[in-house]
Amino acid sequence: MNHLRHVKIAGTGMYVPPKKIDNKDLESLMDTSDEWIRQRSGIESRYHIEGAVGTSDLAVEAAKNALKAAQMSAQDLDLVIFATLSPDHQFPGSSAILQAKLNLDTVPSMDIKCQCSGFLYAMNVGKLFISSGQYEKVLVVGAEAHSPVLDMTTEGRDVSVLFGDGAGAVILEASDSESRVLDFALHSQGEFADKLWLEKPGTAGGNWINETDYKERRHFPYMEGRYVFKHAVTRLVEVVNETLELNQLKVDDIDHFLFHQANLRINEKVAATMGIPSEKIHSNIMKYGNCSAASIPMLLDECVRNEKIKTGDKVFMGAFGAGFTWAGGVFVW
Ligand code: ACO
Repeated sequence: MNHLRHVKIAGTGMYVPPKKIDNKDLESLMDTSDEWIRQRSGIESRYHIEGAVGTSDLAVEAAKNALKAAQMSAQDLDLVIFATLSPDHQFPGSSAILQAKLNLDTVPSMDIKCQCSGFLYAMNVGKLFISSGQYEKVLVVGAEAHSPVLDMTTEGRDVSVLFGDGAGAVILEASDSESRVLDFALHSQGEFADKLWLEKPGTAGGNWINETDYKERRHFPYMEGRYVFKHAVTRLVEVVNETLELNQLKVDDIDHFLFHQANLRINEKVAATMGIPSEKIHSNIMKYGNCSAASIPMLLDECVRNEKIKTGDKVFMGAFGAGFTWAGGVFVW
């Protein structure tokens, strides 16, 4: 693909709320165990919001950290893109709420709702706005406050132990150096929407939410765990190959693999299938659980800040989630 100009990541940031929930804490709320959660998913703890905090409050902190790293102020931004499946309100999108919290006047903002693949979709959109010449500096945020919609009882344990709250952000800008974001591969397959979804409230079926919906627990997230697991492994392997081919790269050319943090076991299977050395795979799901659209930018920020990712390194990012959606992308740091 020929672009008019290259785009780089100018800064990264992340944020989690202060309240830490260890696996042991969940044992007092539901019939679960630290051992079950660790064995199945690799998760040891996650963070939950408290009080009047919502998704955009997490996003604003991650955005400020990314702006600081990029040595920019919010006023430098031309566009705000917000990837989330857990918005502050049904409408307007959380991007508008974040735009206001950053004290931006009439800078455009948009939401991307592609669940765990949302950050990669959003980054691709941001990149194209810059490479086309329309904008110079774009904030891309992935943020989630899952905890308010989780069923923290034994009935909801298969889903609720997995998810955490958090936010990650990057600033994109035009690049005249070797540091640049390469091409993305994006996919979705809506026929599997009901394998992992939060069905209600919603307009499908002609009502927003009714008593039967509550009785049938349609207002809590539902996941066919094993089904999703198998699809995730297959599609992630495919999208690694596709993205690398698109960018004329091989597995050996990549210095770091940042996969969506849904389950340590999924990423281990992908790595084993593709012969990726374990030292090239980074993980933080142990600390934060599955933060959906926030997971990749959170992991990216940690890897940048602890200097695992160095100038010139090639980094692959890959995600799979509800929709189903899946995506891959590569950048040179
Ligand atoms: N604590 C203790 N026991 C539990 C818990 C829990 N929290 N949850 C379920 N169990 C029980 C089940 O009831 C079941 O019991 P049974 O055998 O008596 O029926 C048993 O544990 C095994 O349950 P499975 O669902 O078969 O467990 P599995 O090994 O498949 O692990 C998991 C479940 C971790 C959810 C796994 O399937 C997975 O990671 N799936 C994919 C997740 C994913 O990738 N999601 C996509 C991204 S998220 C997004 O897009 C929003």
